[in-house]
Order: sequence, then C-alpha cells, then structure tokens
Amino acid sequence: MIIGIISAMPEEVKSLIDGLKNVTISEKGMRSYYHGFLNSQEVVIVFSRWGKVASAITTTQLINDYNINEIIFTGVSGSLDPNLKIGDVILGTHLYQHDMDTRPLFNQFEIPLLGKTSFQTKANIQLEKAAILFTQNISKYISPEKMKQFGINKTTVNKGAILSGDQFISHKEKVTSLKKAIPDALCVEMEGASVAQVCYEYKIPFSIIRVISDNANDDAPIDFSEFTKSVACKYAKGIIENYINSINK
Ligand code: ADE
Repeated sequence: MIIGIISAMPEEVKSLIDGLKNVTISEKGMRSYYHGFLNSQEVVIVFSRWGKVASAITTTQLINDYNINEIIFTGVSGSLDPNLKIGDVILGTHLYQHDMDTRPLFNQFEIPLLGKTSFQTKANIQLEKAAILFTQNISKYISPEKMKQFGINKTTVNKGAILSGDQFISHKEKVTSLKKAIPDALCVEMEGASVAQVCYEYKIPFSIIRVISDNANDDAPIDFSEFTKSVACKYAKGIIENYINSINK
C-alpha cells in the first residue's frame, strides 16, 4: 500500500520529507519525487507546482511511475464562505473546475467527454478524524505568536465543494459570481479539481485537504510565504501524520 502525497507548496513538501526514512529521490519533468517511509507507511511525496496543468502532470506521473493506492493533496485556499476563517480546514467532497466553460457544446463546468461537472471524493472518515485531532491540538504545532499574527483562534474542519481554476481570486465580484453558480462551494484554489480528474480517469481514490489562507478578496492581504512556512506546513504534516498513525494501528 503506497500513499501518494502531493502538496501545492514546496514548504509543505519540505516539512513532510523531514521525517522520511530510506529516501530515494527521482527527478522527472522539473519535479522531485521523494519515495520513502513515514513511520512504517510507504509514501511518495511531490510538489505539484501551481495550476491545473502542473498538478495534472504531477498526478499522472505519480500514478504511472509508482504503484499508488491513494492520493492525498494538501495546500492553501481562498474562502468563499463568510462562516470560514483563516486557519479552517476544508476536506473536499466535490471538486469543480470553475473555469471550464464550453457552452453551448456542454453545460457550464462540464468536463468534455466525461459527462461530469464535478468529481466526488470517497468519504474518508479516518482523514476527517486526523484533521479534527490536529485542530484540537493546534497549539502543539503552531506558536501563539503565529496564531495571533494570522488571527487564528478556534479552527474548524469542514466538508464541501472546492473550486479550482487557473486564476488567483482576489475580487469580491468574482467570489459572488462563483457562489451564485455553485452555492455550496466552500473555497477556491488552483489544483484540486485537476488532481481529481486524473484520479477519476485512473480510478485512484483521492482526498483534497485545504487550509483557508485568505478571503479571496482585496482586503487582508496575507504574507503567503510566512503563512505557508509557519502555518500551512504544520497542518499538512500534522494531519498526514495523524492519518498515517490511525491507518497503521
Ligand atoms: N489559493 C489560496 N488562496 C487562493 C485564492 N484566493 N485564489 C486561488 N487560489 C488560492
């Protein structure tokens, strides 16, 4: 059983490979694939690079070169829901490519020839529990200064639709139109739904975990590099370690 772990941020990969044993690194197509063991779990860890094409390339290579049984994707996202705060976790249930629009040939968001407007993830209760356990113990992972700097207080784990597109969303008009088109959307990012499409076509179970880093509008610009380094990395590492511990019990 091999788990493929794809991260949208190089810092997340760095924090995950810190604990990796018996590592073999393969360089392919401008990416480094780190094969090894996290505790006793065999994994391959890779940085997707950014956007739908980059993440699709990474996912395809990972599936074709390793005997992957499951893929977990981690990264940050912009909130589309006023109830979500920076630091909240989203576990995708449905992944949409919000910039796919081939009307009048197909419906809005429909992926040509697949007859689908979204890709559904398989419910993964253990991953959900791993994320909840992480948020319950967040103070063990992230310093009070960093929590304060990013206004993180009580964090929640939420399940729902995630939208992906080749755009960084930073205008409230765009947020309003995305919400109008897909009312149950929780957050927006740039890779999840393309990873989902590849996994769907290759029949590989997948999970998408996102931490909210911004509100996808022009206020509260955040220091992304600092957020990734001192917050998002800890989420990725903490949740994945909890998950691996729970499935190897
Ligand atoms: N990833 C993190 N925040 C994002 C945003 N606002 N739009 C697209 N991708 C993101």
